[in-house]
Amino acid sequence: MPKADSLKGIILCGGLGKRLEPLTRITNKHLLPVYDKPMVYYTIQTLVEAGIQDIMIVTGGNNAGDFLRLIGNGQEFGLRHINYTYQRGEGGIAEALGLTEHFADGSKIVVVLGDNLIGGSIKKYVDKFRRQEKGARVLVKKVQDPERFGVAEIKNGKIVSIEEKPKKPKSCYVITGIYMYDEKVFDIIKTLKPSGRGEFEITDVNNAYLKKNELSYDILNCWWTDCGLPETLYRAATLVRKKCKE
Ligand code: G1P
Repeated sequence: MPKADSLKGIILCGGLGKRLEPLTRITNKHLLPVYDKPMVYYTIQTLVEAGIQDIMIVTGGNNAGDFLRLIGNGQEFGLRHINYTYQRGEGGIAEALGLTEHFADGSKIVVVLGDNLIGGSIKKYVDKFRRQEKGARVLVKKVQDPERFGVAEIKNGKIVSIEEKPKKPKSCYVITGIYMYDEKVFDIIKTLKPSGRGEFEITDVNNAYLKKNELSYDILNCWWTDCGLPETLYRAATLVRKKCKE
């Protein structure tokens, strides 16, 4: 039974973080420090601040057990309990999300990639999604290096296509790693085929919603960065430090 009035949060912290070697050789990327806290702290805070209390972390790769030692039941974040599950291997973001079906249990979900940090609140977007009858909602941001991301082509205020890491991006607007889905997302994931890089792509999930004309978006109005490269991990620390000093 869909439980459309409840909203759950999911943080994806899988992968081997190969682009950060050797930093990630003996630990998980999402446990690395970003200024004064482990990376995953910021994404938990993003969800909690948006009013989401029911959270599952999907870990994988190296030292998954350290999440439990670090975060425990989430008391530091004002939570009573936090849920965990484990992704074996490198099946991609959509596969990791598929592992949370039993947790979502018919609720709408807000999904955050554990290495996506932002300079503000997502509460207003999440509140819009709470009121959204069905479908998905993504957050879009203008960047200078769109070829590293899922790129949105926008015409007349609507997303008309999304391409994953295109060589020739059709725009500078990219889909950030903050996604909101209704309960249908799990049926969509089951229909996906692995991409050229052998992963189940979140862009294919978003394109499935687009095809149904059920994909809404907002343009994120604060800074946003991933932390997947030495350069962007450094940038994240700089931005977080600046925010702390403000
Ligand atoms: C992933 C998604 C991409 C999205 C990005 C945001 O990329 O596949 O569409 O724009 O996260 O960080 P990846 O982390 O696999 O490079």
